[in-house]
Amino acid sequence: MCGIVGYIGNRDAAPIILGGLRRLEYRGYDSAGICTFDGGGVQIRRCEGKLANLERLVADEPVRGAIGIGHTRWATHGRPAENNAHPHKAGPVVLVHNGIIENHPELRNALREDGHRFRSETDTEVIAHLIEQTMRGGHDFEAAVRRVLRKLKGAYALCIVCESEPDVLIAARKGSPLVVGLGTGEFFVASDIPAMLEHTRQVVYLDDEELAVFRQGFVSFSTVGGNLVEKRARQIDWSPLAAEKGGYRHFMLKEIHEQPTALRDTIAGTLTEGEHAVCLDDLRLSDRELASFERIYIIACGTSWHAAMVGKYLIEKHCRIPVEVDIASEFRYRNPVITQETLLIAISQSGETADTLGALREGRARGARGIAICNVVGSSMDREADGIIFTHAGPEIGVASTKAFVTQLAALYLFTIRLSQTLDTIDRGERRTMIADLVRLPSLVEEVLGLGSLIEEIAHDLLKARDVLYLARGINYPIALEGALKLKEISYIHAEGYAAGEMKHGPIALIDEGVPVVMLVTRDHSYEKVLANMEEVIARGGRVIGLCTEGDKEVRSRATATIELPAAGPDLMPILLAVPLQLLAYHVAVLKGTDVDQPRNLAKSVTVE
Ligand code: G6P
Repeated sequence: MCGIVGYIGNRDAAPIILGGLRRLEYRGYDSAGICTFDGGGVQIRRCEGKLANLERLVADEPVRGAIGIGHTRWATHGRPAENNAHPHKAGPVVLVHNGIIENHPELRNALREDGHRFRSETDTEVIAHLIEQTMRGGHDFEAAVRRVLRKLKGAYALCIVCESEPDVLIAARKGSPLVVGLGTGEFFVASDIPAMLEHTRQVVYLDDEELAVFRQGFVSFSTVGGNLVEKRARQIDWSPLAAEKGGYRHFMLKEIHEQPTALRDTIAGTLTEGEHAVCLDDLRLSDRELASFERIYIIACGTSWHAAMVGKYLIEKHCRIPVEVDIASEFRYRNPVITQETLLIAISQSGETADTLGALREGRARGARGIAICNVVGSSMDREADGIIFTHAGPEIGVASTKAFVTQLAALYLFTIRLSQTLDTIDRGERRTMIADLVRLPSLVEEVLGLGSLIEEIAHDLLKARDVLYLARGINYPIALEGALKLKEISYIHAEGYAAGEMKHGPIALIDEGVPVVMLVTRDHSYEKVLANMEEVIARGGRVIGLCTEGDKEVRSRATATIELPAAGPDLMPILLAVPLQLLAYHVAVLKGTDVDQPRNLAKSVTVE
């Protein structure tokens, strides 16, 4: 959702804040704003649209000072417009906010009765007015902030400054992420680490209902209630270059090409016994605990949910434990059956998605053990889960998830092997083969990336399509869903993923020469059946784009176009299939001229329900 950046130090704040916002733009991009302080008072610039508009505005009308806050917005309350853009100001108080204040209508009504006039439709402006009113009642800035935070229901990450106390900046968090960066004689605050990577890699994560108060070169951490807390700084090992485009036209393309490295980094350090066994140190579950689970839930949202679906196939096949996969926003409100013998696996690139975090909390509160598969060290899920498997994809900036997805699949594959070691459900020979397949995988992904120009040519065929169908069976079925999601997200062409065997029960009605059908046909036990489904499509005039294994004459002779992939272990084919589908969506979007990295209406990190 929205991106927040704050700075307090001895340098010019505006370029630091704008640079940080640029790296957070994936969180929201419908309006943006900045406020800085110099001796003469606050200077605020805000505007509708992308950050580039704000950058132009600041170039024309510069803002100065060594303390400031900035924001890039993803609208929840109030349409994208200048008056709704943050920062919001009431009297001397200026703030930026990420999250939703649920009791804002009551608070606003009470403030109106007291004579406050509002300039925006946002829930955020209410907070500024409340602090201003509390200060007028005789409290200093910090005390007023603490009093007001106790009245707020909902979620917030806040950065607040006050004209009458020009050397203080306050950051506070409940429910929405906020990280403090420690520099030399300067501090940074941001919703996410890439915003500050260029300046520091020493960070402190705020926990819920905590404040960071920056004053005269010092920072103190405390609870909203005022108790000081000791925080541990963490060293982030992401390189600042990881958050740059590095010569690629889009972050998405760069991230697609980073997949071999991301996979190698995720696998690195997990193999033991001469690469014949898997060891996941951060899982923090003993063999006795692992053996006790009778049921597993995997919960996630968006692309991560597609990874979860692949996880079900892997775990049920190799570990013989029933696995249920659920969309996090459904799971948390449907009263699921949970016992002490339940393991809950939350999958999330960001580790902050509100529904997935809520579902993890709900499951653990009901007695399940809850682990996470997550890409961000120090994120809420990392801190709250009983155990964790990190995907080492590095920062993912493109809104459409790519490298995070394939590393989630690799993490699930590793987890499956780890669990099977305890349960003794895979014999040693098979386990060795599975591990050898995984080690070979990154170089196979490199081969697939070499198909870029073929896929670009095929993309022309989808340009005019209104609808596209993606069909597959078994473990590849979630990849059909993911391929369709990628196309929808970035090209705005309607696409649907379907289980190939289910096509006859509805989508077949859509098929004619105007509807391209992308079919995933790999040489596994359902190969013949998918081929038969392909015949059904062709018989109705459908144009098939077939993804198959190298040299497959059956598919080549039937499909309008084929994308041939190297053969991998059957359980790893989903990873190899995902890559060309990402590239296909990417090239269609580029040809259509859409905004690949920041598609309309989407945000990368969805920290509201
Ligand atoms: C948003 C993003 C998706 C992502 C989903 C879940 O919708 O646009 O790319 O898959 O959130 O995010 P998470 O960080 O929990 O994996």
